[in-house]
This record gives sequence, C-alpha cells and structure tokens, in this order.
Amino acid sequence: MESTVQQKAAHVTTRRLLDMKSKGEKISVLTAYDYTMARILDRAGIDVILVGDSASNVFSGHNTTLPITIEEMIYHAKAVVRGVQAETGRSMVVIDMPFMSYQLSSEEALRNAGKIMKEHECDAVKLEGGRLIAETIKRITDVGIPVMGHLGLMPQSIYKYGSYKVRAQEEREAEQLLEDARIVEESGAFAVVLEKIPSKLAAEVTRSLTIPTIGIGAGAGCDGQVLVVNDILGLDREFHPRFVRQYADLSTVIGNVVGQYVRDVKDGVFPSSDESY
Ligand code: KIV
Repeated sequence: MESTVQQKAAHVTTRRLLDMKSKGEKISVLTAYDYTMARILDRAGIDVILVGDSASNVFSGHNTTLPITIEEMIYHAKAVVRGVQAETGRSMVVIDMPFMSYQLSSEEALRNAGKIMKEHECDAVKLEGGRLIAETIKRITDVGIPVMGHLGLMPQSIYKYGSYKVRAQEEREAEQLLEDARIVEESGAFAVVLEKIPSKLAAEVTRSLTIPTIGIGAGAGCDGQVLVVNDILGLDREFHPRFVRQYADLSTVIGNVVGQYVRDVKDGVFPSSDESY
C-alpha cells in the first residue's frame, strides 16, 4: 500500500511540468507504442511518453499518420499504460487524437477524448492545430481532460502543405504561429509541441508562454524535447533527418543477431544441451 502511494506521488503531472518550466528543468519526451518499450522508457526516467499517431508510420508502415484509427490508438495506449504501471509508474502518458477524431465538431472531439481517457488510465490527449481548434481545446479541458497542443509542422495536414519542410520561416506565418500558441494556451492546453520551426521562433514562443513548449526540430530554446523512439534507436535504416540524434544503430544490431540465429538454427548448433530439457 505504502509503495503504491509513493509511486503515485512521483507520477509526472501537468502541474509538475509547469514547475519544471518555471525552474528551467528540461522536460524529456519520447514516443512509445507498446508495453515492452514503455517499461524501458519509464524505468530509464523519461518524463512523458507520447503514444504518437506516428505509430501509423513506424508501427503499421503507412506513409502518413492519417490512416490510424481511434481504436488502434487506444490499443497502443492501453499497452503503454500497462508498461508504465508495471515499472515505476512515474512517466506521464499522452495519447495523440488521430486524424478526424476531433476535427468534425467540438462535441465529437469531446466524446472521443472522453473515450480515450475512459478506456485506460492515461494522463492527457494531444491535438494538432491552433485557432481553428481553440473551442475544441476549451471544451475538452473544461471537463477535466488535459490537452497538449501541437503547432508548426502538423503531420495530419500533410496533404494540405504537400511537404515536411520547416514551417513558419516567413514573417507572416511566424506571427500566426506565435498567435496560435497564445490561443492554445488561453484555451486551456497544459503544454504545446512545436514541430520543425526555426529555433529563434521556438525560443520566442517559449518565452511568451507560461505553459511548457516541447520541441521536435525546433532547437534548444524549448522547455523540453520529443523524438520518435524508433529514430533515436536507429531502427529505420533510411530515415535520418537533421533534427534526430541517433544514439544507436539497432537496425544493424538486430539484423546481425537475427542472421546469427538463422545460421545457428540451420547449422543445428541451437539449441545446445544447456538450452534443452
Ligand atoms: O506522432 C508523433 O510521434 C508526434 C511527435 C513526433 C511529436 O506527434
């Protein structure tokens, strides 16, 4: 009983993230989509685990984030929450609301955010957009569901923009983004992801908000950083964007391990007598 109380006390909350910003303590965020990875991330001390709709790309092999469904996101979210709970229980878990689960109306968005929160014990949902979804953010936060915003490169709008290039490089778009960030904060979001925008602009947004900014390809001036876990582990041999720091080459490591296993099985040297009953 005592240990359960201690675990809950350590759990990262929206309040804790605000404190971290005010103390200048950086916030670490990574994506995860399954139980095993969530256990590893929580044990390693990650502050926030994002069950990103990037699962559509890196888990399911789609070209974009658009095809993933709310049921699939809930499936990933349940596994991740179970992983965190099986370890220290410290990491906050945020779930991406998938494309078309919140854009039709604020009422439907609220229903779907509620569905995501009710299915498992996650902490918050994340939505892409600024002024256009202000009312939606307000309705969801008004009922007590924490919302993380997402501005800059918004992968769910990829067909509108036609490319994954850096956003808000021109003054007008930069001003709009700054304004959108203020609107997202005023609507009740507890944090906002800034994806692929110039570092100078991200630092300015960070200074002008009281809520934390979490950057991805947005420079060191943000209050925290998020990356896709598959990218830092080097699981994709072809994907090496400038904003990713690849800490390992697991694609090669796993390939070598599997190759060795295949040879051992073919050569009849696995299993040995020690590995048999
Ligand atoms: O879906 C995702 O993984 C994301 C992060 C990259 C911010 O939205």
